[in-house]
Amino acid sequence: MAAAQKIKRTVYVGPFVHSQSLQKLDICPTGAIGVDENGKIAFVERDVKDVGDVIPVTQKYGWQNSQIVRIKDNGFLFPGFIDTHIHASQYPNTGIFGKSTLLDWLNDYTFPLESSLSDLSKARRVYNRVVARTLSHGTTTAAYYATIHVPATNLLADICLARGQRAFVGRVCMNAMSPEYYRDESVEAAMRSTRECIEHVRGIDPGFEIVSPIITPRFAPSCTTECLREQGKLHRETGIPCQTHISENKKEIELVKELFPESKSYADVYDSAGLLTEKTILAHAVHLTEEEKALVKEREAKISHCPASNTALTSGCARVRQLIDQGITVGLGTDVSGGFSPSMLEMVRQAVWVSRHVAMTDGDQAKLSMEEALYLATRGGAKVVGLHQKVGGFDVGTDWDAQMISLGSVAEDGSASDEIHGDPVDVWGWEEWEDRVAKWVYNGDDRNTAAVWVKGRLVHQRPGFQP
Ligand code: GUN
Ligand code: FE
Repeated sequence: MAAAQKIKRTVYVGPFVHSQSLQKLDICPTGAIGVDENGKIAFVERDVKDVGDVIPVTQKYGWQNSQIVRIKDNGFLFPGFIDTHIHASQYPNTGIFGKSTLLDWLNDYTFPLESSLSDLSKARRVYNRVVARTLSHGTTTAAYYATIHVPATNLLADICLARGQRAFVGRVCMNAMSPEYYRDESVEAAMRSTRECIEHVRGIDPGFEIVSPIITPRFAPSCTTECLREQGKLHRETGIPCQTHISENKKEIELVKELFPESKSYADVYDSAGLLTEKTILAHAVHLTEEEKALVKEREAKISHCPASNTALTSGCARVRQLIDQGITVGLGTDVSGGFSPSMLEMVRQAVWVSRHVAMTDGDQAKLSMEEALYLATRGGAKVVGLHQKVGGFDVGTDWDAQMISLGSVAEDGSASDEIHGDPVDVWGWEEWEDRVAKWVYNGDDRNTAAVWVKGRLVHQRPGFQP
């Protein structure tokens, strides 16, 4: 079990790349990062040019007996990705959505699959796979939705802990609208189940070091007003974060108006229930009004931008530049399986693409740069899930949640250095460092993710790769 693995003091020697600010990537080609036995970054050195420079660094910190890991093959270290919105239970449906839009997609594709995870052996296969797969794509933290089922949701938490992925695990609360075969029977039953899952996580990870519970009312139409209020009350009383969906699709917004005629807006439905706070993650937020954006900003609620899902379900193009300019904290989410890919690198690309489509109508200022999208996938996501003091970049005192990217090289005869894995990025040796990062962002995939660590622990390595 990954959780029992002992961590050796390690110095990671080689190039590292992380976000300094929204606009600026810090690229250090000659780095050395010391990670202690608790999985925390103890030092960051920037001028370790050759082999001879490593020993003086270890001496400087009294780390002579530490393990040395060298970055090979035109590789670099990058912070682990933070997926701020993913439905673990929908993983088997990735890529399956046809021509549906949100409300028919929920009924035709999603509720039947989710309800079938009452079968624990099926849930075990699905949850083991989604955690392994997202880790292999460099996702070190995920904010998961499970299903309404208590045992299966608890199993997801167990699997995250065993595999070492930092995770927020939410039992989905829904006592309205969905078919009778997949619905909480009453507000009391929903609250009991929600509490049971919270207590389970407290039992397996008392300090919420790796796995945390998260209160998860699915979205306003899935809950009665009373149910939303009870979830809001629990959120306030326990300080446990919450996550839900908002303003994803126009028909959904109309439905919310019909179901909650007393509310001023969709955002107000959550606000009146005590569910719009600085610990709230709102997925999508494609069609928020100016008034709603002001309310979200005032409450310091966070937004998970899900570009792949918004395109797949034809929900719309979120105006991310406007959200950021208004001072709202934004991260990226795969929204599997509204989104078709579990890869956060793909979401970085999709965020850039969607912003370019927005720019075609709104003007160039709407474009997100590669640097900005990488920030959203790391430091932005860390703020969204409330872990910015812990993860998202390579800062002394924060946890070693990182991925090693390998890009390989091209030989004289045109063969790539890593033919076994068919490295998807050809690196010739003459590119600038910025170009290599761009090649990874636009051409890379999980074959480039050689190794992944969470809190200093190796949680994934590409087959055949030895760090
Ligand atoms: N709104 C309510 N439930 C869901 C869901 O499972 N996925 C998405 N994308 N939107 C939702
Ligand atoms: Fe979603």
